[in-house]
Formats: sequence, structure tokens, C-alpha cells
Amino acid sequence: MSAALSSGRHVVVLVSGAGTNLQALIDATNSSDYGVRIAAVGADRHGIEGLDRAERAGIPTFVCRVADFPTRADWDVALAARVAAYEPSLVVLAGFMKLVGANFLAAYAGRTVNTHPALSPSFPGMHGPADALTYGVKVTGCTLFVVDGGVDTGPIVDQQAVRVAPDDTPETLHERIKVVERAMLVDCVGRMVREGYAVDGRTVRVGAR
Ligand code: GAR
Repeated sequence: MSAALSSGRHVVVLVSGAGTNLQALIDATNSSDYGVRIAAVGADRHGIEGLDRAERAGIPTFVCRVADFPTRADWDVALAARVAAYEPSLVVLAGFMKLVGANFLAAYAGRTVNTHPALSPSFPGMHGPADALTYGVKVTGCTLFVVDGGVDTGPIVDQQAVRVAPDDTPETLHERIKVVERAMLVDCVGRMVREGYAVDGRTVRVGAR
């Protein structure tokens, strides 16, 4: 895979839950120095705090639910169309708990990043912090990657480490990871959009334009 960012400086963010990563991006975009605008926030479900955060910030929102389409592939086509309406240079999956499919990637491969609460390639999937605790690792963390067709397998943009505490629960560990994750996401998305980036095989270079 090889891709470089177009000149636009706006992103679409997709969320499924609390949206604290989205909020960190919203807060960052309030500074003109950040140089990135959130054109829209999309979700796969109604009634989540992530959508409320966007609405409070005056950002357009949309919901695209799998259940509203005959097949998963139809949903995927519709999701790509909803995103495309905003012509983003980058799509940011920030706690978006659905795998995008082939149609979405046909439009946005190389231009979609996802954040995951584990150090890839360890502990992919929905339960990264719990799986890390169960395994007994002493260090875990978070990964920002360029989305490909796998589950949390894409080329890595950045990773940050977090030590596991002896008394951690999945929840306390995840909350500590999220503090680091939000800073990583804001930093990387800002640099990718402002400075461009290139994906060459599994290597991502930010600022390579
Ligand atoms: C984040 O930790 C994100 O990495 C994780 O969900 C959380 C969303 O938090 N995503 C995954 O586990 C996907 N595999 P937020 O809604 O508060 O931003």
C-alpha cells in the first residue's frame, strides 16, 4: 500500500461510544495552530456521548447503523458515501467498534486511521486492555495504525507504552491507556494532516510529503 495525503485539512471522525478521543481532537481543533478541522462526526449507533460531544461543538453528525441495511456490504457502501459527502483528507476511527469493509477501503484505504488500546500486533480486537491483563504482560499501551482489511493489523503510525499496575482492572488499565492514547491521536492526526505522510508497505512516515 502506498498513499500520500491530499491537500485538504479536514477530517471525518467515526465513533461508537464515549468519544473522549474525539473530544481531545475537538479541543485541539479549537486552536488555529492545530490546522485541522473536523468536518463531521459519524456513528454506527444513536444515543452515544460521542455524538453529543460533536453536537455541543457545532460539528455536523450522521448515524449509519448496520441494522438499517439488508447486508453488511450495503452498510459499508452507505458508510463510505456518508463520509465521502464531506470529502475528508483523512478518516479517523476513534473508538469506532465496527470493521469497515471492502467498499469503504476501496475509497479510503491509506486515508483511514484507527486507534487501538494495545501494542499491536498484540491483543487485537474489542478487548485489548482485558486481554493484556489476562496474558499477564507488564507493559501494554496504544497503537495508531492505517486501516487495512484485517483486525487492527494495518501499518503502524505510532505507539505509546503504558505499564500495567499490579492492582489494575481492565477498566483502570484502559483509562490510563486512554490518557496516553488521546495525546498520541491528537499529535499524529495533526502532523499527518498538516505535514502529509506516506505508507510504504508496513512503514508509515509522517512528514514525508
Ligand atoms: C479507545 O480506547 C479506543 O482505542 C478503543 O475504544 C476506546 C474508545 O474510547 N477502541 C477499540 O478498542 C477498537 N479496537 P472513547 O470513546 O472514549 O474515545
